[in-house]
Parts: sequence; structure tokens; C-alpha cells
Amino acid sequence: MPTRIHFHKGDITEMAVDAIVNAANTDLALGAGVAGAIRRKGGPRIQEECDRIGPIDLGGAAVTTGGNLKALYVIHAASMRLGGRTTADSLRQSVRNTLERAEEKAFKSIAFPAIGTGVAGFPMEECARIMIEEAQTHLKSRTSLEDIYFVLYDDAALQTFEQTYKQLQSRAK
Ligand code: APR
Repeated sequence: MPTRIHFHKGDITEMAVDAIVNAANTDLALGAGVAGAIRRKGGPRIQEECDRIGPIDLGGAAVTTGGNLKALYVIHAASMRLGGRTTADSLRQSVRNTLERAEEKAFKSIAFPAIGTGVAGFPMEECARIMIEEAQTHLKSRTSLEDIYFVLYDDAALQTFEQTYKQLQSRAK
């Protein structure tokens, strides 16, 4: 069955999926934004596990428990160094590695935020293009993933992702 890509507006910590993706830094120190919401709602076990695993490489991705979240796991996508900025390459690598981790763990469903576009200051449109391109590339090979969600925090971000997806789909034809 083909994997479905979905676009939702909402709070990623509310998603009942196998794994939600954290917009992480290489230290795996959960700060504000998505990480802050995960820390608050997921409880202390997530940061405790991050402290044992981190630091990871720039562009890397690490799996921890989902703690008290509805999601069973969190995949921490390190698109930036603490205090640094997300680049196109580090974003692409972190998304690719996140999808690899999901496949390794045989996850069926995963939810991504717009990584890099908050504290890390990465442009939303370029983020959408890179993240959707990496998802489409991943889906060309065998994967356990049946549903990939992009969970955006406001209407503008949702619209950017949906329009970018349409453009990439029409280009693919
Ligand atoms: N659900 C979905 N999206 C969210 C949520 C949420 N609960 N909270 C914030 N966002 C959106 C933001 O509006 C932004 O568009 O997620 C996007 C990513 O924003 P950040 O979480 O700030 O992530 P990023 O820009 O990648 O910066 C990561 O910030 O919080 C620290 O520890 C974190 O060092 C890391 C850095």
C-alpha cells in the first residue's frame, strides 16, 4: 500500500503516532518551541535519555522514549548546533537520518514539525521543499512507514507546505 503524506495544523505533541520528530540541537538539550512542548508534555524521562545519548552529529537523528506523550517514541533531528543555525544541508541530513531511524525501528507512522523554522531561523518555503523532497526520496525505497504527517503550527506554514507539495507532485509527473 502506498505511503500517505498528510499535512495538519496543530500541536505535534498531540499526535498519536509511533514517533513524533523533535526539532533538536546536537546537544539534545530540549529548549523552547517543539522541544519545549515535548519536554513539558513528555516528562523528564525524555531529557534523561537524551543526556545519555547526546551529543550527536550535526544532521544526525536519535530515538528516545515518548515518555508521557501519545507518541510511543521521539526521534530527535539535530538540524543545528546549540546556539547555531539550521542550514539546507544540515536540515536535509537530519530529515534523511530521521526517516532511516524510523525504518530501522519499523515505525508505521511519524509526524514532523517544520524543523529549523523557529529559533533556528530557517526559511519556511525552503524547509518545506527540502523536507518533502526527503520524504519522497525515502518513499522510493521499501519502508515500514505507512503515514508521514507534517504538523504545522499556523495557517501560513500549513499553506506553504501544501503548496510546495503540489508543486513537487506536478514536477514529478
Ligand atoms: N507543534 C508543532 N509545531 C510547533 C510547535 C508545536 N507544539 N511549537 C513550535 N512549533 C513550530 C514553530 O512555529 C516553528 O515553525 O515548529 C517550528 C520549529 O520551531 P522550533 O521548535 O523553534 O525549532 P528550530 O527552529 O528547529 O530550533 C530548534 O530551538 O527549542 C530549541 O532545543 C531547541 O535548540 C533547539 C532549537
